[in-house]
Amino acid sequence: MEVRLAECAGFCFGVKRAVDTVYEQVETGKTIYTYGPIVHNGEVVRDLEKKGVRVIEGKGELLRLAEEERPDGGPLPAVVIRAHGVPREIQEILKEKGLECVDATCPFVKKIHRIVEKAGEEGRHVVIVGDPSHPEVEGIKGWCSGPATVIETREEAERFFLPEGENVCVVSQTTFNYNKFQDIVEIFQKKGYNDTIVNTICNATEERQRSAKAIAAEADVMIVIGGEHSSNTRKLYDICVRECANTYFIQTLDDLHLELPKAVRLVGITAGASTPNKLIEEVQNYVRVNF
Ligand code: F3S
Repeated sequence: MEVRLAECAGFCFGVKRAVDTVYEQVETGKTIYTYGPIVHNGEVVRDLEKKGVRVIEGKGELLRLAEEERPDGGPLPAVVIRAHGVPREIQEILKEKGLECVDATCPFVKKIHRIVEKAGEEGRHVVIVGDPSHPEVEGIKGWCSGPATVIETREEAERFFLPEGENVCVVSQTTFNYNKFQDIVEIFQKKGYNDTIVNTICNATEERQRSAKAIAAEADVMIVIGGEHSSNTRKLYDICVRECANTYFIQTLDDLHLELPKAVRLVGITAGASTPNKLIEEVQNYVRVNF
């Protein structure tokens, strides 16, 4: 029997890079904070907590931290910016208050910051297609040097009116749905705006789904690992179960009560965006050893 892991499973490049950065920083012996949980995975956050890493939950907490007395000569606490990025204001606070900023913003998100910053300087109105309450979108908005609007639905796009004489620059949240983005772009084009459209959707999600589907289509049994409330893991499960009726959704190894039919040749494994490699390997090894 073969156990095969999907080509793209678990952390995307940006999240892996940010998590690795925190572990590297821990090794320096400095006091480490992360601005928001580094990844939506309780286990990883708890593991880092045990190593002394603390989470700052927002600007207020950051300002309080900055005011704390520090023993003279001690190393500065370092604050790691996670893959989603932060508004420029947060980086400025870090600099002003003399805290060390370790920027682990995903380079693809950083690129959007540069695009919107430049668009603002050129006098363009920036439209961010995405979820206004998502930290990545809040971060992007915080790099706009001119007017900016966040649009999430077709209806909002229909209602949007650009003041006469203004040009628009449209970007998207990296995890936004491609078809929905296209719909919104079409509405803008019909309105005849003079616009620059930059599709900044990252293909990590699509790649993960594509490779899960490819394995599920061949597998006799499929295992999807991820958080109960993780919408991207649920989506992976839906894709896999359509291809392979014997698909299991598990959060940890403890949830895995595999009953393998006799003639199983291939067990496929995939994992959601916040699932650490360690857990994926555990499941992989367990299936290899026990069946
Ligand atoms: Fe991940 Fe960066 Fe893409 S954080 S989803 S690789 S934009």
